[in-house]
Amino acid sequence: MSAIVLKPDIYWVGAIDWAIRDFHGYEVPHGTTYNNYLIVDDEITLLDTVKYDFAEVTIKNIRNLIEPSKIKHVVINHIENDHVTSIDRIMGLTPNATIYMTERGKKGLGRFFDISKWGIKVVKTGDILHIGKRTLLFLETPMLHWPDSMMTYIKEEKILISQDGFGQHVASAERFDDEFILHRSLSELEDAVVDYYANILMPFGNLIKAKVAEIQKLGLEIEIIAPDHGVIWKKYPQKVLKMYLDMAEGRADLAVSIIYDTMWHGTELMTFPMMEGLKEEGVECRVIKLRSTPISIAIKEFWKSRGSLIGTPTLNNLMLPSVARFLYQVRGLRPKNRIVGAFGAYGWGGGSVREAYEEFKKIGLETFEPGLQILYKPSSDDDKKCYDFGREFAKKVKEYHLKYQ
Ligand code: FEO
Repeated sequence: MSAIVLKPDIYWVGAIDWAIRDFHGYEVPHGTTYNNYLIVDDEITLLDTVKYDFAEVTIKNIRNLIEPSKIKHVVINHIENDHVTSIDRIMGLTPNATIYMTERGKKGLGRFFDISKWGIKVVKTGDILHIGKRTLLFLETPMLHWPDSMMTYIKEEKILISQDGFGQHVASAERFDDEFILHRSLSELEDAVVDYYANILMPFGNLIKAKVAEIQKLGLEIEIIAPDHGVIWKKYPQKVLKMYLDMAEGRADLAVSIIYDTMWHGTELMTFPMMEGLKEEGVECRVIKLRSTPISIAIKEFWKSRGSLIGTPTLNNLMLPSVARFLYQVRGLRPKNRIVGAFGAYGWGGGSVREAYEEFKKIGLETFEPGLQILYKPSSDDDKKCYDFGREFAKKVKEYHLKYQ
């Protein structure tokens, strides 16, 4: 496809991956894009590359604008494979170009490629590169979300090339936020931002707040935020910045996600009266069955809700593996300011609910105790217990939510 103009002589030259569904274990039901950018100034500069499978696509996009051998500078903001694995193809076309990256980026790149043949200049926050009419300013963003990560600010154009930050895993025909909102919807775009944040950036809220404060202190005005995935924030960059700051503060909806799995429907039958109890207290309720839902969506809904009820039957005295996997993944994401409870059906010894609480404590979540276990399938009395459990949990969530208002 053709390069897309961000501003005169600044182009998106990336690739759309319609087909990907498994992004190193993160399920991406809407595909993704690998964005990279070309500045045609006195000294032609490429910002980032793309996943190896799409090297030919980006090279063709570049060739539609200039001969790749004319690229003088290549900025590598992040060395994860989806952004760097076509670097050897690019450098093969312009072997005298200089690569700009962080110290950790250089060390990491050396684990993937023989870098002895390339000229690499290490940069740090505040370093600048003049490329003609434009100036690039580098900003290290360590652990956002890899140690090597950085962003590049194009001063004269007020464009922030933000690598993974502010991205979304969405493959779409639209390259810009306003087009996407026009043809699809704002809520779909916001949902994609939350999904990405929840599944990738959730552990780094404090770092995000500090980095945004640093950018503000530097007095950098931002007209466009151009991430390495999804649409470019051309019309609403302040919106995504605000969303990030809210999420970094742990913002959540006054809502409860019931996230469960079930063997013979016993645990599933518990969700219905529980949902009614939650609703009776005026708390929004979302219900997600693991194994029927990509785990990334379950994580997103968990993150969006102030409270979650985790349902798991007992299998061999333990949680059902799908629920254990979900909680294990949540543990790695280190969520804060969320409250949880557990419930489930059992046949003889039980144990899954106890185990779920042990996991909650490892994660560091606020807990609503005790949980609720029922034998085989809910009786009418059990339905009442489930309703009350949902209702009491809703009251607790409302009280807990007040702390964050
Ligand atoms: Fe899109 Fe951290 O790679």
